Amino acid sequence: MVKAAVLWETNNPLVVEEVELDEPQAGEVLVKVGAAGICRSDRHFMHGDAPIALPVVLGHEGAGTVEKVGPGVTSVRPAQQVILTFVPSCGRCKSCVTGKNHLCDNHGATGPNMYDGTTRLHKGDQRIHHMGKTACFAEYSVVPESGCVPIDVAIPMDKAALIGCCVPTGVGAVTSSANVQPGSTVAVVGCGGVGLNVIMGAALVNASKIIAVDIRESQLEFAMKFGATHTVNASDQDPVAQVKALTDGKGADYTFEVFGSADTTKAAYDMAGKSGTVTVVGIAPWGAEAGINAVDMVRNEKTMRGTYYGSTHASVEMPKLVDMYLAGKLNLDDLVVRQYALDDINEAYGDMDKGEVGRGVIMY
Ligand code: APR
Ligand code: ZN
Ligand code: ZN
Repeated sequence: MVKAAVLWETNNPLVVEEVELDEPQAGEVLVKVGAAGICRSDRHFMHGDAPIALPVVLGHEGAGTVEKVGPGVTSVRPAQQVILTFVPSCGRCKSCVTGKNHLCDNHGATGPNMYDGTTRLHKGDQRIHHMGKTACFAEYSVVPESGCVPIDVAIPMDKAALIGCCVPTGVGAVTSSANVQPGSTVAVVGCGGVGLNVIMGAALVNASKIIAVDIRESQLEFAMKFGATHTVNASDQDPVAQVKALTDGKGADYTFEVFGSADTTKAAYDMAGKSGTVTVVGIAPWGAEAGINAVDMVRNEKTMRGTYYGSTHASVEMPKLVDMYLAGKLNLDDLVVRQYALDDINEAYGDMDKGEVGRGVIMY
């Protein structure tokens, strides 16, 4: 039996309770979870804005220690620190063999089940699903071997957890997807856990102006700690006009949407200048459509693309991000501002709704 936070029904609190967790099967690993981040993606499932099979244990931004390995596992061993990835890779599908492991087709097809279509979590006869095959809102998790990335030098669990989602998603959006060039101007719409990592990424590649856009003044002040050079409060004035005013009327070279809505996607599009690149990181409610000016897109040669999980290969990028943290290049120490016990997970999500700055983390 393990303690886990279970989502039984959308728009209801998570229930922290004891559930059964089976032994790891062939190619699977039992991880003792060390920390799990409070990310908005879980919130989308809780609110029903994104579909998922219920009941489910959420939590996709995590790190821990290998407790036990199933038959045939060779890449990790007990006692090793690992970062969890919510898109493990099968290594065989078209996405995996073309280098897009972060979009693994077989992971997509099996969703919140293990690769064999079953679950290791259950309560009596009731199966409980594993969000992202990660399910780290629990003391222990069984994950596919490719769903955990070993790291050589141990780092604090809360920092390691962030390297499971918001750091690669945000930094990767800048370096792997948009490929932001030195000296360019950048605007970031939404400065929560992921947006602050976009800002850090833009600072790492020497963007000239990094404009933080948010509806909360506290987030904007906080963003200055991570490399933002200018701030725009979108709550009372048009953010597009403000970003244009800060870029000599031109609009930014690179813009990022990091909240997840049709309106902020349109705003990110509109505040990009000629030849600008618009990168959509946030996940809008299921079915949302953003109205993009089709003529402007052509005449100004704008590029718009989505990026998932920073468009990075977890097993390659996560160890690099650990090294960057150890080298003082990523300010993850200031990013984690609140720690909670698993019992207080509903309060942790309440704090996110209230707009508390930075990242909250469940510590086990
Ligand atoms: N304009 C600008 N910023 C906004 C707006 C708006 N209209 N509405 C909300 N925000 C800000 C919030 O104030 C908050 O600072 O967006 C930020 C979102 O941050 P978090 O709630 O911490 O969310 P985060 O975990 O960073 O995820 C952002 O990325 O991976 C996806 O699913 C995730 O869609 C989510 C997005
Ligand atoms: Zn996340
Ligand atoms: Zn695959």
